[in-house]
Parts: sequence; C-alpha cells; structure tokens
Amino acid sequence: MLSLTSRLSRLVGEAFQAEGLDPDLGLVRVSDRPDLAPFQCNGALAAAKAAKKNPRAIAEAVKARLEAAGELSDVTLAGPGFLNLTPSDSFLEAMTSELKEDPNAGAWQREKTEKVVLDYGGPNVAKPLHVGHLRSAIIGQSLKGIMRAAGDEVLGDIHLGDWGLQMGQLIVELKHREPGLVYFDESVTSGYPEESPVTVADLAEIYPAASAACKESEGRMAEAQAATAELQSGRPGYRALWQHFVDVSREALEGDYAALGVQFELWRGEASVDPLIEPMVESLQKKSLLEDSDGARVVTVARETDKKDIPPLLVIKSNGSVGYGSTDLATLLERQQDGFDRCIYVVDKRQSEHFVQVFRAAARLGLFSEDAMEHAGFGTMNGKDGRPFKTREGGVLRLSDLISMVTEKALERVRESDSAPEGEAMSKEEIARMVGIAALKFADLSNPRTTDYIFDLDRFVSFEGKTGPYLQYAAVRMASVLRKAGTGPEEAIKAPIGLSEPSEKELATLLLGFADAHRSAYEKRMPHILCEHVFGVAQSFSKYYSNCRISDEEDNSVRASRLALTALTLGQVRAILTQLGIEIPKHM
Ligand code: ARG
Repeated sequence: MLSLTSRLSRLVGEAFQAEGLDPDLGLVRVSDRPDLAPFQCNGALAAAKAAKKNPRAIAEAVKARLEAAGELSDVTLAGPGFLNLTPSDSFLEAMTSELKEDPNAGAWQREKTEKVVLDYGGPNVAKPLHVGHLRSAIIGQSLKGIMRAAGDEVLGDIHLGDWGLQMGQLIVELKHREPGLVYFDESVTSGYPEESPVTVADLAEIYPAASAACKESEGRMAEAQAATAELQSGRPGYRALWQHFVDVSREALEGDYAALGVQFELWRGEASVDPLIEPMVESLQKKSLLEDSDGARVVTVARETDKKDIPPLLVIKSNGSVGYGSTDLATLLERQQDGFDRCIYVVDKRQSEHFVQVFRAAARLGLFSEDAMEHAGFGTMNGKDGRPFKTREGGVLRLSDLISMVTEKALERVRESDSAPEGEAMSKEEIARMVGIAALKFADLSNPRTTDYIFDLDRFVSFEGKTGPYLQYAAVRMASVLRKAGTGPEEAIKAPIGLSEPSEKELATLLLGFADAHRSAYEKRMPHILCEHVFGVAQSFSKYYSNCRISDEEDNSVRASRLALTALTLGQVRAILTQLGIEIPKHM
C-alpha cells in the first residue's frame, strides 16, 4: 500500500500545485526533529528559487491550504521555510484501518513487475564452502523475499560451480590413486556403475590433495587442465565420474541449505549451459566480437572512460576448454532464452571485475541491456582476527559446523530464558535451531550489504539489542499478549483501532512507514534497511506495551483497539521476518 509519507506528499503536492508550483516539490519525509513534528517538507525552498519568490511566503501559503484541507492537525513553519507536519488523529486512524485491510501488511507494491533470476549460493562441487557462499545464500534468500513481496516473479538459481578446473584436478587425483577404475579405461564408453566411487567425505579429502598436487607440480597442473578440456569435450568416462561428483555434492548441499532455511528454485550450474557454448561462440563470431589472443579467444570489453584497465573476457582457452567467464556468458544466453527481464548476482564484491567483463560482453552480444544485469556485491564476514571467518580451528568452513555452533549457543540462551509454553510446545532443541539460524541471518542482513563485519556469536544470539533473537522474542510476546487475552491475530485485528496515547500513535506511524523501508530496501538491494525498520517497530511496540494497558484495559473498546494494534504489529513483523528468511518459534 502507499506509505504515510507518500500519502502526505500527495497532499502537500496538491497544495503546491494550487499555488502554481511544482507538485513534486511537496515531498514529505520523516522529520529529523521528531520532537517538533513527525514529518517535514523542505520543498518551499526549491520552489522559491524556481519562482523567484520568498520561501517563507510560499511556505505560509502552502500552510494555509494544508490547514484548510484538514488531514493535518498541526502545520508549523521553521527556519527559512521548512514545514513541520503532524497528521491528525482521524487521518492516522483512517490510514491504520486501511493497513488492517492490506493483505501485504503494508508492504510496497511495484506498479510494473518483472521476472527476475537471482543468482546466489554459488557453491563449488567438491570444494569447501567459505563465508562468501554463506553470505550469498543469506542475502540472496532475503532479496528474493523482498522482491517477491513487491510483486516480482523471482527464481533463485544456485549456479553450482561444476565445470571448472577443480573437476579436472579431482579426476586426475583419483586416477593417480585408483588407476584401475573403469572411468579411466578409454575402451569403455558406456555402462558405468550406478554407485559413486567416492562419498562426499572422500571429496573433502581428495580435493585439497588434488589442489596441493597441482600447486606443487606443473606437470600435474597440465594434466588437470587437459582432463578438464577432455571432460568438457565429452569423454564418456570423465563425464560419468563427474556426474558422481556432482550428485554426491548436491545431496550434501541440499541438506546444508535446507538446514539454513535457504531454498533454490533452480539447481542449475556452469555445466548445464555447456550445450549453449557452441551457439554462443557462433553468434559472437557472427558479430565479429571474438578476437585471437595468444591462441585463446576473447571479447574486448574495455572502454575509454574506464578508470582502470578491464581485461578482455576469456571465452575459449588456448587448450579449447572454457572457464568462469564463458559459462557465465552462456548462462546469460540461457536466461535470456528463459525470458527473464533481469539478472541479479549476489556474489562477493571482489568479483566485480568479472561481472563487468561478463555484463559488457553480454550487452555487446545483445543478450540484455546493461542495466538489466546487476552485481549485488557484498563484503566479508571476518573473524575477530580481521580475516575471513573460518570454523574448525582455522580450517575450512563447514556449514553444518557453523549451524551446530550457533545452535549450541542459542540453546544456552533458550535454557536460561526457560519459557513455559502456552500453546503447542516446541522442544528446546527445535527453538534453539530457529534462534541460532535467526541470529546468524539477522547479524548478516542488518549490516549494509557491501560492508565487512565481525563474527561475534555472543552478540548475535543475545536476546537484547539489534539481533534476530530479539525480534523473534518480540513477535512471540505479541502473540502471547493476544493468546492471554483469549484471542488470536485474525480475530483481534477485526476491531476498530483508535489512537489516543502518544505511544499508540508512534507505533501506528511507524507501521505506516513499512512501504518506504521496503521500497528503499528493494531499490538499493539492501536488506539492512528492512532490518532497521523491523527493529524500530519492535522497540516501539515494547514502549507501547509498557505505556498502555492492553489485555488488562477496562474499557472494552479501548482494549479491543489495543489488541487490534498488537495484531497489526505482529502481522507486519511476521511479514518482514518472512521476507528476510527468519522463522518465528511458537515460544521461547
Ligand atoms: N562459484 C562461484 C564462486 O565460488 C560463485 C558463483 C557466482 N555466480 C555466478 N554466476 N558467477 O566464487
């Protein structure tokens, strides 16, 4: 729905227009001086400049019109021509009752929606996950929620890293260990065993060995490169072996992501676009975009205006194999064929040059316009030492280790809080799992996407402060207020809401600002803006709860109104936490 500021902007804009001024200058925003008024409009200054008039005179004229309109209970002038605005109680109440009817809990709705593919997760087959993959999954999942709530059709694609050099490295390592395996026998071309020769645990041991061997020996590296090229050109034994690697990895990944509450609609990968490489190369050739560079085939993407050199995109390596750039370009071809309007990549910001190369090449190829491809980059989650966070005594990050770590910590907190369930009981372990994941996700999302932050488990799982558990707790408390009053959210919200106490008005005003926060989080691809909003709502509810009697209020209609406001708040908090990918326990 329209936010309160949009509604006020319209009102003030009309007053500007009636004065013969540009209505867009009537923009209203939340005041920097909430002690004076909740909203302000500074447009009279710009309007005065344009009309060559005195800003105070313009502000006076607008004020007079606004006072006559009646939606504002107070309009005052400040400084050279600022307008301080206080909506009337009846206007606030009318908007609050509109909010009650809104099936989207006050979220912003786009007028024209799009079909979007969100590329996030991006784990690599057989290689360990790192914090970048974790952040990508958490941020991607929440952007998906934010965009869907605005009306877009959004599909999440995990884009598995399954076609690069690591596959050749693995094949060669296994060949050295078990040369007798049928996959290496070139006289065999079909009928390979169904059972994988390796488990995911084996891969976790084989990959580091394979990668170390390649670092140590140039010969081994050359072997791995040749094996990668052979795999890509279709050698049957290698393909069969590759399929096993992918299958066992995928099974483990599915478990990990499910535990994290992250879903993907598409489980595609680099390899799935292999059939598109040939047609892509052909159309690059047709458009004369492919150039030769020491035996490799590249697309030039540099521009005169670039501040630093952007190297060409490598499409085909000199040994005929394809790499990260080629598979990403082919994936854009696939995404164009699938009819997406927009492609967003939630990937570590250190990969920005790669995306500049790929996007420019795609634009030259005519796949998407450059503004339809976005790299939503992010910073690093660091350990207290300031280096990228790792679990297992400085070793690789295992998602399952990380989840057990946060769950353990959350369990300590949950045991301390020792809540007695009022409804259906959840086990402490189940609650701790939800709390732990919420702690991890909210800690990540509440920082601006592009900044680095420090992993601080004690702070993340605290029930106080700007944390996931604090928000879960706030929602649990709202539900419990309703339950104790013998009602539930659907029933309670039906009552008319009257706003008389300041803390009621403050809460309602904040709830009516959701659309602004949602829109801004959407447009900037910044979930932390929504985190700020929901945290503000929870704090405001807490103030309301301590200032106003709710279930023990004696006046029946005031009691019903306050329960309705509680239900309204709960509905919005739930909607936002759902967008962010955070579950709410039944009790905690
Ligand atoms: N697998 C890549 C990595 O680990 C991330 C993939 C991101 N997505 C993409 N389309 N390039 O760095």
